[in-house]
Amino acid sequence: MSLRVFVSRDLPPGPLDALRAAGAEVSVHPHDRPATRAELLAGVAEADALLSQLVDAVDAELLAAAPRLRLVANYAVGYDNVDVAVASARGVAVSNTPGVLSETTAEHTLALILALTRRVVEADAYVRAGRWTGWSPQLLLGTGLNGKTLGILGLGRIGRAVARRARAFGVNLLYTGRTQRAPAESEGASWVPLEELLERADVLTIHCPLNDQTRHLLDAERLRLLRPSAYLVNMARGEVVHEAALVEALEAGRLAGAALDVFEREPEVHPGLIGRPDVVLAPHLGSATVETRTAMAQIAVDNVLDLLAGEPPRTCVNPEVL
Ligand code: GLV
Ligand code: GLV
Repeated sequence: MSLRVFVSRDLPPGPLDALRAAGAEVSVHPHDRPATRAELLAGVAEADALLSQLVDAVDAELLAAAPRLRLVANYAVGYDNVDVAVASARGVAVSNTPGVLSETTAEHTLALILALTRRVVEADAYVRAGRWTGWSPQLLLGTGLNGKTLGILGLGRIGRAVARRARAFGVNLLYTGRTQRAPAESEGASWVPLEELLERADVLTIHCPLNDQTRHLLDAERLRLLRPSAYLVNMARGEVVHEAALVEALEAGRLAGAALDVFEREPEVHPGLIGRPDVVLAPHLGSATVETRTAMAQIAVDNVLDLLAGEPPRTCVNPEVL
């Protein structure tokens, strides 16, 4: 019997063709926008596999509406949008797209760190507005990275890829995370407790997954531990930072600036962030290169092909169901 796959959003073309060629019945949500809740529920009703996006809430209700479902292939490395406990209880495998986006997300992290500390976005706006009247010794001075401390919150694949690149800028590397890694696996970064990381970082960059332990990890109290000269960069999930508390810290001058790729209520952005020259904003673009988005689609599809072949999905995050 053929496998029915519901794809909640159109993806880079090649990989889905491979799925069709392998005999799967693929139905792609046709519009260039996220599927509505009703469309998602209808889409999964007959599906054996769901190819989901990080904006799709794959929760108990949705899983209950999908009696045939055996795999949720999430098109992201993060899978906080999927209720994995409920999926596991129903025997549904969940897969993500690890590895292929780590270097790409690290590149974007460095882009944002440099944009923030060297005021690239502000400078661009300044020139375009016709305000530049000539070279000036005090014009748009930034902050150097050489000799400064980069604090990495979460030294997983992405955090390590950031560390490797940051080393070339001459920063000292500190990190915190659940696991203290062996020196050979920490890319030259030293483990410190979270509080110490916050107190010592000149730039704090966030790369941890979102879960019950990390939701609002950076609340008002912890944000106060950062130095007034420190910069905060969030590349993980918006909910890791208490956004209103961050705005308050910026407004009170308790932080030098922030670069945010992710937000608490995407696509909403806290109005207190818009219009601040010391903030750089990006619309969740960490993995957004042609190469990486294609590779992510391929991994998601490979997991479905594994299911079709009766093999364990290769990047399953809840292997206990297999
Ligand atoms: C993007 O945020 C991802 O988790 O892949
Ligand atoms: C992502 O791949 C991570 O583990 O950081």
